[in-house]
Amino acid sequence: MPSSLDLPRKSAPVRDFPSQVRTFDHVWKIEEDQLTPMRTDDASLGSAALNVNKIDRELFDFARDVRDGFSAPLKFIPSRWLYDERGSSLFSQITRLPEYYPTERELEIFSTHASSMAKALLGSNWKVVELGAGDGRKTEILLRSWQRSEVQFSYVPVDVSPSALEELCKRINTGCPGVRARPRVGENLSVLRELSDARIRGEKICVLFMGSSIGNCAWEDVENFLSELRATLLPGDLALIGFDLIKDSKRLIQAYDDSQGVTRDFNLNLLRRMNRELGANFDLDQFRHEASWNPGLSGMESWLVSLRDQMVDIRALNTSFKFRRWEPIRTEISLKFSPEVIDDLACANGFAPLARYEDRAGDFTDAIWEATDAFWM
Ligand code: TRP
Repeated sequence: MPSSLDLPRKSAPVRDFPSQVRTFDHVWKIEEDQLTPMRTDDASLGSAALNVNKIDRELFDFARDVRDGFSAPLKFIPSRWLYDERGSSLFSQITRLPEYYPTERELEIFSTHASSMAKALLGSNWKVVELGAGDGRKTEILLRSWQRSEVQFSYVPVDVSPSALEELCKRINTGCPGVRARPRVGENLSVLRELSDARIRGEKICVLFMGSSIGNCAWEDVENFLSELRATLLPGDLALIGFDLIKDSKRLIQAYDDSQGVTRDFNLNLLRRMNRELGANFDLDQFRHEASWNPGLSGMESWLVSLRDQMVDIRALNTSFKFRRWEPIRTEISLKFSPEVIDDLACANGFAPLARYEDRAGDFTDAIWEATDAFWM
């Protein structure tokens, strides 16, 4: 595993955050990271205040991340902002592209090995907690097989998006009748901590973290996530985690820059989202999607590259940012793993690797880890 990473550190913001944010209809005052409507006399706002506040908390976080990311020496935007409604639907399309192998490969792993995985769960009562729940295609196969194997479990999908959870639960309720889905809206690890604290005697937790989400951050964040994950669990709990395996970089580049241009649209959609939600004026024709393999990082990186010197205004931030010709904005990191690194990550963070399943082509792997006793925080 690379020990030092060539990732830019977030620098201190250059500009002061403006004291006001404008959304479509309202002006919000920013005080210590809180948004307050400026015009409390507005009658329509009274009833809408709760919803608007919730929506605008997101908007505020988005604005702050854009401000921080564009103020760094190497500009970046955290990848979570790629997934607005259009972004999520484009990503769903990506998962069905011939070049984008991870989803199909993990489906294959579950279709082939779910019943063997079930053996690790027989004999106890489980809460199966899925972090960052996806569209449920893969979960459905896994849970249906575990049901057939007579694993005793309830299912708790966790996501920040209520609408994503609703879709997922619909799918699980029809696809796996008899499985009790109890969705929880919230941030992965805080919900997991609550669930872990509230468990009844003898109940064990099996965390699902599928797809290649674990790779969508810097290496140090992978370690931080895993040690925090371990800290929420008890010895004997399990984690099933998906890892994209390191492979020929030519194939990786195709997977992240497909011939139909869906990934390009997905990445450029971030600029469109900033235009719409933050009142920015990005010209989408003046940026280009690029995907590159960084061997030192063991990761793919996705970029939006400025095709000319340009200034972009962002009204929500009351400011403009300069983009030089060929200057990149990084929008995603996708780390790729070797089997040895995966085992090391388990052991270094208080887990014992129990089993690991690969697809036939050896492209992707799902690891099952058990939380061990010998782990002191
Ligand atoms: N984060 C996912 C992955 O690493 C989704 C993804 C696929 C993605 N293609 C992308 C994110 C291109 C940004 C740009 O596989």
